[in-house]
Amino acid sequence: MSSAGLVDTDARVIACSREDEDIFRIELEAPRIASACRPGQFAMLEPSPGAFPVSRRPLTFSSCDPEAGSVTFLFDVVGAGTSILSRSAEGDPVRILGPLGRGWETSPGRWLMVAGGLGIAGFPFLLSTADEAVVMAGTRTGRGTSCCPPGTVLATEDGSVGVRGLVTGLLEDVEWDSFDSIAVCGPSAMMRAVVASAPPRVLGRIQVSMESRMGCGWGVCGGCPVPSSRGGFMSCCKDGPVFRACDVDWERIS
Ligand SMILES: Cc1cc2nc3c(=O)[nH]c(=O)nc-3n(C[C@H](O)[C@H](O)[C@H](O)COP(=O)(O)OP(=O)(O)OC[C@H]3O[C@@H](n4cnc5c(N)ncnc54)[C@H](O)[C@@H]3O)c2cc1C
Ligand code: FES
Repeated sequence: MSSAGLVDTDARVIACSREDEDIFRIELEAPRIASACRPGQFAMLEPSPGAFPVSRRPLTFSSCDPEAGSVTFLFDVVGAGTSILSRSAEGDPVRILGPLGRGWETSPGRWLMVAGGLGIAGFPFLLSTADEAVVMAGTRTGRGTSCCPPGTVLATEDGSVGVRGLVTGLLEDVEWDSFDSIAVCGPSAMMRAVVASAPPRVLGRIQVSMESRMGCGWGVCGGCPVPSSRGGFMSCCKDGPVFRACDVDWERIS
């Protein structure tokens, strides 16, 4: 399938490596997707196509090299799909549909990027488009902090790396007005806390990348609702996964 820039293809695994405990990086040769994808967009990946009853799983583009024709994803092993994907070897086929969704609205200026857990996965791609950026990341333990871009300001709940505490603690001294754009990605409770800690005047500058369980990834199954601040629901895969923070009804996010 290929329409309006959307490609459905068998990609070849270039490399798949363990980055940290149960965190993997996979690089796929997928030239048509590499030439079309933008930061914040995602793809639906089917590991070992046809060999196992696992439907496609959404992963955010972590980086993209249009010249080499490759895309990279960073992922946590949490269940059957990501477990199969983590066992991929060079040359294996991975069915991939993408690029999907609306990515970050990239604009010139200074960015603040705030990640919780593996929400950091997509920031290298966004960073590659930013003039200037400060990246902050919070995790429970030091697990995954080695995957953060160089210079990331770190907070860990166990104090093993960076400042002890939550990523929102890092925001206490932030000069919000010095940033033109703010990107937030991570668990919904963490994103809600970041949005709540920002002064109301900067809310229009905050974008959040939401994660819903997804069936199709392109607006057909109705399985990925995100409550809208205007009432009703938006679809995470088609209207998002990146939204303006003020468009999301945080009271109705579980
Ligand atoms: C737009 C989007 C982008 C994503 N990008 C990334 C990424 O870059 N890296 C990454 O590691 N993960 C990412 N995820 C989450 C990833 O899709 C899930 O971890 C994956 O689908 C789990 O598949 P599985 O078969 O391994 O686990 P399953 O057996 O399907 O699920 C195992 C457990 O994982 C948790 N889980 C599964 N899917 C989600 C989800 N979407 N959100 C929260 N928890 C979930 C649930 O607790 C579930 O019980 C993204 C999700 C979305 C919607
Ligand atoms: S995943 Fe099917 S509508 Fe969003």
